[in-house]
Amino acid sequence: MKIQVFESIEALAEASAKFIAEQAKAAFAERGQFDIALSGGSTPRATYSRMALGPFSNTIPWPRVHVFWSDERCAPPESPESNYRMARETMLQHLPIPEANIHRLQGELPPQEAATQANRELAAHSGEGIPSFDLILLGLGEDGHTASLFPGSAALKQSNELISANYVTKLDAWRLTFTSALINAARQILFMVSGESKAEAVKGVIEERDPALPATGVQPAPGNVAWHLDQAAASRLSRQTLGD
Ligand code: 6PG
Repeated sequence: MKIQVFESIEALAEASAKFIAEQAKAAFAERGQFDIALSGGSTPRATYSRMALGPFSNTIPWPRVHVFWSDERCAPPESPESNYRMARETMLQHLPIPEANIHRLQGELPPQEAATQANRELAAHSGEGIPSFDLILLGLGEDGHTASLFPGSAALKQSNELISANYVTKLDAWRLTFTSALINAARQILFMVSGESKAEAVKGVIEERDPALPATGVQPAPGNVAWHLDQAAASRLSRQTLGD
């Protein structure tokens, strides 16, 4: 587990863009492909905007990159709620990625139908079995949720699907989410977390390994976990954890 703390969201975005580019370079060198799953919410916006600019926009072989989402709101792609819309506006519309390589979760469909379609599309791209994403981006909620794996939600116990429809009681809303099985098959995970409101959850996951927090369950067997935090989100971590 590699933890880096940044003084601003701009510094976090610059480092995260570099990290993504490094993962892409290694993936293309080793496997000739780069499959990435984007996270949603607001924290990744700065990183996605940075990716759309040089040198990242012109050094990564974007026409060969495949883009997925680690979760999505059950809302149409044009909705302000849509994680797809956020990524398209900040990054994807500025990069030469073929439409066929953009595998959005179809939030406009009934939730279970969208999950069935997403699993079908993932299998069509990756073949049968549990695919190992080169990089999965994740955020962290104040309650320790990640992707749309919320505490107490059914998808946390899902073992038959890789992408599930998940009803989130506290939001009174359906979400689509990668399940733990798919997340934990990743070669590399990058958490990007900002804000004081996440500091307790960051401590709970990184230091206390609290099993009640879904993000604690992110322990990829073949891969590694990196954390990019701003100072506020890292403010409850011990000096020992931070290697100070
Ligand atoms: C979503 C996310 C979710 C998010 C966290 C943090 O669809 O909202 O994928 O898991 O990463 O809630 O969100 P912020 O970055 O907006 O704080």
